[in-house]
Amino acid sequence: MRLDIVTLFPEMFEPILGASILGRARARGLLDWGCVNPRYFSRDKHRKVDDRPFGGGPGMLMMAEPLAAAVESVRRQGSRVILMSPQGARLDDRKAAELARESHLVLVCGHYEGVDERAVELCGEELSIGDYVLTGGELAAMVVADALARKLPGVLKKEDAAESESFASGLLDFPQYTRPRVWRGREVPEVLFSGDHAKIAAWRRRAARAATRRKRPDLLARQVQESRRSV
Ligand code: ADE
Repeated sequence: MRLDIVTLFPEMFEPILGASILGRARARGLLDWGCVNPRYFSRDKHRKVDDRPFGGGPGMLMMAEPLAAAVESVRRQGSRVILMSPQGARLDDRKAAELARESHLVLVCGHYEGVDERAVELCGEELSIGDYVLTGGELAAMVVADALARKLPGVLKKEDAAESESFASGLLDFPQYTRPRVWRGREVPEVLFSGDHAKIAAWRRRAARAATRRKRPDLLARQVQESRRSV
């Protein structure tokens, strides 16, 4: 998959997307990404990319033309262009999986107080990572890149690791333990040493349901609603 990020702050990305699992995914050719800076497309002699809003009001807006020109420099036929914005549809596991099936994504990061509405319209959709306002779309774009990268085939060690985890199943993860068997007086559940795979799987299903009920009862309620809708 190819990811192009339109941002005034390209230097923010390498330390995050270049490290760890995402860094390895790029080295192995599974996720190819790059940044394009709207400032290079500014027609102003000072490379200005923002201006005051018509009608007054506080703050500055990103101008339409440098953003549009940056998007157009990377957009191809069939590219999906997404503006990172708190006004967008909310990112969740399903959305991450859907985005991971695209071959080319363009993530546009807003800054200042907002973006000229005509440039918003140029993007096919808006995407939010939660109901709070960040100083810019960069961190949100990195969250999207991380969430979808781990859905790409071959990125995680076990092909199916992403599927068996939290949310993909509609439940949270079951609790997991490693050595030592007793730590600060607390023991690992006995069943995990039984060697009986069916019994362990049944315990894990029960534990996942119990964790979900305790920590995120809204997920169980949603599952019930969805199964009712599908009958
Ligand atoms: N830009 C600013 N806040 C944001 C958010 N919550 N999600 C996505 N992009 C944003």
